[in-house]
Amino acid sequence: MIIQFELNGRLIKADTDPGTTLLEYLRGVELYSVKHGCDHGECGACTVLMNSKSVNACLILMHAVGGKKIETLESFSTHEQLHEIQESFLQAGAVQCGFCTPGMLLSVEALDRENGEVTEAKVKDALNGNLCRCTGYVKPVEAALKVLKKNQEVSK
Ligand code: FES
Ligand code: FES
Repeated sequence: MIIQFELNGRLIKADTDPGTTLLEYLRGVELYSVKHGCDHGECGACTVLMNSKSVNACLILMHAVGGKKIETLESFSTHEQLHEIQESFLQAGAVQCGFCTPGMLLSVEALDRENGEVTEAKVKDALNGNLCRCTGYVKPVEAALKVLKKNQEVSK
C-alpha cells in the first residue's frame, strides 16, 4: 500500500504494509534518532512529532500516517548550528548516555510550538512520557525551561 505523507519537510510515498509501525518504518529508512525502547508506549524513546504534537512512534501504524506531517530529530540538523533546544541541553549538562535525548528534545519542541505560558509544571508534564535512567530530570527540566522562557520573551 502506498502511503503519502510529509517526513522532515519532504513529501514521501511509502510503499509499506499499513500495519507496520511508524517506529519500524522510520528506523527502516535510517532515521536512527528514533529509538526502539519498550515498544509499548511507555518509555518515550521513539517520540516524534506528528502535526507538531509529540507522539510515540511505536504506537502509530502507518495507515494512520497518510496526509500527516512527521518530524524526527534529524530535521533539527538542517540548521548550520545546533538547534537552540539542543544547545540548551548541552549547556545545562542534561545529556548523559543520550538514549532518551532525541525524544526529550522533540517533546520540548512540541511544547514550544504551543506558544503558551511556560511553567515548570508544563515542562514536567511535557517530559512526563520520556523516561530517563541517567539524569534524574533536574537538568533536562532546567534546560527546557531556559530555552522556552527565552522564546516566550522574544515572542512578547
Ligand atoms: S519505544 Fe515507543 S514508547 Fe517506548
Ligand atoms: S540520558 Fe541516558 S536515558 Fe536519559
